[in-house]
Amino acid sequence: MSPDDTPAREASEARAIALVDRYLAVRRRTEALARPLSPEDQGAQSMPDASPVKWHRAHTAWFFETFLLGPFLPGYRVFDPAFAYLFNSYYEAVGPRQPRPLRGLITRPSADEVGAYRAHVDAAMVRLLTTSPTAEVIERLDLGLAHEEQHQELILMDLLHLFAQSPLEPAYRETPQPDRPIAADVRYLAFEGGLIEIGDGGPGFAFDNERPRHKVYLAPYRLADRLVTNGEWLAFIEDGGYRRADLWLSDGWAVVSAQGWDAPLYWRREDDGAWTVMTLSGRRPVDPHAPVGHVSYYEAAAFAAWSGRRLPTEAEWEAAVRTEGRGLRQTSDETWQWTASPYVAYPGFKPGAGALGEYNGKFMINQMVLRGGAAETPPGHARPSYRNFFHPAQRWAFTGVRLADDMSALDREAATPTSTFLDDAVAGLTADRKTLPAKYFYDAEGSRLFEAICELPEYYPTRTETALLRRIAPEIAARVMEGAALVEFGSGASTKTRILLDAMPQLAAYVPIDISRSALDEASEALRRDYPGLVVAPLVDDFTRAVRLPAAARGRPVTGFFPGSTIGNFAPAEAEAFLRGAHGLLGDGAMFVVGVDIAKSPDILVPAYDDAQGVTARFNKNVLARINGELGGDFDLDAFDHRAVWNAEESRIEMHLVSRIDQAAHLAGREIRFRAGETIHTENSYKYAAEMFVELARRAGWKVAARWISDSPSFGVFALAG
Ligand SMILES: C[S@@+](CC[C@H](N)C(=O)[O-])C[C@H]1O[C@@H](n2cnc3c(N)ncnc32)[C@H](O)[C@@H]1O
Repeated sequence: MSPDDTPAREASEARAIALVDRYLAVRRRTEALARPLSPEDQGAQSMPDASPVKWHRAHTAWFFETFLLGPFLPGYRVFDPAFAYLFNSYYEAVGPRQPRPLRGLITRPSADEVGAYRAHVDAAMVRLLTTSPTAEVIERLDLGLAHEEQHQELILMDLLHLFAQSPLEPAYRETPQPDRPIAADVRYLAFEGGLIEIGDGGPGFAFDNERPRHKVYLAPYRLADRLVTNGEWLAFIEDGGYRRADLWLSDGWAVVSAQGWDAPLYWRREDDGAWTVMTLSGRRPVDPHAPVGHVSYYEAAAFAAWSGRRLPTEAEWEAAVRTEGRGLRQTSDETWQWTASPYVAYPGFKPGAGALGEYNGKFMINQMVLRGGAAETPPGHARPSYRNFFHPAQRWAFTGVRLADDMSALDREAATPTSTFLDDAVAGLTADRKTLPAKYFYDAEGSRLFEAICELPEYYPTRTETALLRRIAPEIAARVMEGAALVEFGSGASTKTRILLDAMPQLAAYVPIDISRSALDEASEALRRDYPGLVVAPLVDDFTRAVRLPAAARGRPVTGFFPGSTIGNFAPAEAEAFLRGAHGLLGDGAMFVVGVDIAKSPDILVPAYDDAQGVTARFNKNVLARINGELGGDFDLDAFDHRAVWNAEESRIEMHLVSRIDQAAHLAGREIRFRAGETIHTENSYKYAAEMFVELARRAGWKVAARWISDSPSFGVFALAG
């Protein structure tokens, strides 16, 4: 050797030392996991799917012996030829093996002898890694170490299952119950989708099932920023989630019925009614703020249906996780997350040649993919492209749930800077007679101003309708069946709703639908607090476009509720179309309770829409404030007056914004000119004679089952039957 070889030799020695260190670190971790266990703990097998810890320790040694030492270390002496039969897991190409359900019968070798086997393999591996390992050896080393890390997690899964069968319910480790903060309200983050790429693109290690990297088209979607909590799961249980066939896939319902499941694996309802859960630290109270764990795919899918959401596909999950800085939490440090994707080969996947080709490929049938990682996953083991997989009924793995949903037209508006709002505003403001749709009043400030209007002395509709509802609530309640769902259109602060909720203890679910997310969030939170037994399943949507109720309402008798005379915002033909659409949404046999303002003297009507304090004026101008703030317009709010007029011919109150002067404003590169006195028509409130409304409802396919008209100022509530 010439002196010039020294740096090269040092570099290769350093590489070898690094490989040995990496190898030994993983191997030691396995032994550290087994150390707190007695030989008896290590030998028992609690079910056919699980293996004894001793078997995991021996099998991982066998893997290195079979796939590295035998083929690559000259003169390697097999520790014991009988071990090939005992510790081969599933490699048909390697030979026959002990059946998996019978691994617990392998009382010999002892746990100590398995320790000696591991030491024998380790010594030989160190020799192999220090004698110029080839690229193929390093590739198999990476696989062997990743394989052993998978078994480290399996050891903990299997051990938890074993200890959960013991009447003593032993703790594998003594750790205090984590003091978790209250789980924040879940937020649904919007992702554009489009043509994206998933899968591993190298250069580091990845399993063959993560390749090849390939393109996938995704429709816009939303993903929950956190995992489903135990508290949310409890609400599902209490709503009869495990007993409602309509929520379950057929195969899932067969399993839940046959197994008698009524909660996640390891949960138990104690004599005092409280739920506890078996953990690696023994049995503990269920923490409502912790992510739910140990649920099967079937349960995850049923929960998603109940929530009116769905599970994400694995491509949605991966694309979202690769989008940095979007606020996704608990991606890989709590539980694996079931996806809606079956475990199948990626396009272009080819299993490797020989026995190792059996590692993943042959399992690509009848299983579902999980993404992420769990608290018990070895550090650094998982990655965004990682594909875990289990059969849909299995639940002893560290599995949990993250929900997703499709982006509604409304969410797309919110995610792609208010394109529809802009389109509608430009179209309305450039028309010959300028208009703006009334629904754009309602951002957070608009919703707040509307609540303030309801308190005004001039605004009789809220007071009158509220008093009427209080009086007739028992009569309405008498028509509502046990276990029914109440679906409210344009629920706002859900204030009037409480009158019905108080009168109807038989209600099981409440579905508020509103275009204003902030109003909906606030109202839902308050109702959940005040009506703990009620399932509140809000739907952010345009109520003229909503086509499907959340699962919480499906399969139940449905009562619709549309108070506030919001129906008056539609022209009669639109109101008829709305009532027909609501019939479709609520379903046959539904009842629909609609509040309708009755036509009356303009002396009462006009002040109600033009109050002395100017609150309605601010509400009206809020649409211009939104155009300035959200769409980059430059309207001078002080250059417009609020005006409310009674149009007797159309039987409606009209709200306008009247330009005080000749002026021009700008929006999206357009100049919008106003003459002094020219108006933007912002809202109509149609007022009906009772008989006219009855006729309108009839044309829309409803029968009027009951009607109640208040004393003056008159306001009507109609119970429609469909
Ligand atoms: C006049 S307020 C009535 C609020 C409440 N129902 C009441 O009676 O006091 C109208 C409500 O309907 C909502 N809204 C208006 N247009 C909507 C639409 N197209 N889709 C969904 N919600 C809408 C608004 O956000 C607001 O909360």
